[in-house]
Amino acid sequence: MAVSIPGPVERPGVAMHAPIVTVQQHLLREQRRISGVSGEFSWLVSGITLATKLIEAKLRRAGLSDIIGVAGQINVQGEIQEKLDVYANDMLLHALGVRESVAMMASEENQHPVLAHGGSPHAKYIVIFDPLDGSSNIDVGVSVGTIFSILRRTSEHLESDVCASEVLQCGLRQVAAGYVLYGSSTVLVYSAGNGVHGFTLDPAIGAYVLSHPELRIPDRGKFYSMNEANLDRAPVEYQNFVGQLRRGDLGVRYGSRYIGSLIADFHRTLIKGGVFLYPPTPDQPAGKLRLLYEANPVAFLVEQAGGMATDGRRRILEVQPKSIHQRTPLVVGSKTEVEAFLACVDQAHAGNVASDGRSAVNAAQLDLSIHPPLQELSR
Ligand code: F6P
Repeated sequence: MAVSIPGPVERPGVAMHAPIVTVQQHLLREQRRISGVSGEFSWLVSGITLATKLIEAKLRRAGLSDIIGVAGQINVQGEIQEKLDVYANDMLLHALGVRESVAMMASEENQHPVLAHGGSPHAKYIVIFDPLDGSSNIDVGVSVGTIFSILRRTSEHLESDVCASEVLQCGLRQVAAGYVLYGSSTVLVYSAGNGVHGFTLDPAIGAYVLSHPELRIPDRGKFYSMNEANLDRAPVEYQNFVGQLRRGDLGVRYGSRYIGSLIADFHRTLIKGGVFLYPPTPDQPAGKLRLLYEANPVAFLVEQAGGMATDGRRRILEVQPKSIHQRTPLVVGSKTEVEAFLACVDQAHAGNVASDGRSAVNAAQLDLSIHPPLQELSR
């Protein structure tokens, strides 16, 4: 009797003939292409997908339960920890802590790296994450995200003095990076160095399903994204650049979109093009965003998608971190806009353009008078 071959997997409410690819299937395919990567890698990432599904389930019920609200502790950034931050951190530490390939984890919520499996030599990876980025937005129903970066361990022995240096690898050494955006849908975007792929959580089957294969950021967009309250306190190159975008000097008059939740702002920028900026300010002279678990993963993804990321001096991925919770300015997005920003940096550095079109001498004076401590940030 002839045996018929089963067709594509059917999903409730979804038209047939669209074969589904789950993130696990995709990872298994990917890992064959990455040298030195074995099944451990997809098992590791499954720890992240499991934790983020638990976080998403909790978030979706946040308005119904007593889970919103401060937990009473101050995290290492000096910010009050929201209860969901604590929950999200616990879920990731737990789900990754039982993956044999994880040697160490570093989180926004923990001052020091957390060692797993006693630093066993079989544990090859270091996972750095921000468990719930933008969590101050939760009580007003705004999208938040989990961000992660995966590095390969370099030392055989992980004594405490080695731990920090293992985590302090520059972004170019990331094996993979990604985020989960908990928005109107829950989307996982990741790259293991072979392009960027997006997966949408199908609540009917509880799986992340490939929805955005081979994501490319458009070469240019129509929006810039920054907290505009910072603009007049930002270095002159930021002021000049935003002036150009508003006037239409790049060919279109840009609109502005800012959510105030990095992953939500970055996801829009990745899909639609444009630019996201978080400048240094007198209050935050090194910028606000964290290099290891905000800027680096986002920079890895944007470069994989054909865009650019800079701190105004250097490519983000080339910055050598000095501390785990180090902050950085960040300008990330489409090539056209980031290149135009870098041209403004060069002009400001040469001191020949002022934000209001004044002479070179005035430009230098303006720059010095407004931003004395920020000068060294110019390229
Ligand atoms: O770093 C935390 C964060 O909430 C990011 O998600 C976001 O991009 C940024 O801070 C918003 O900062 P601000 O409220 O200063 O605009």
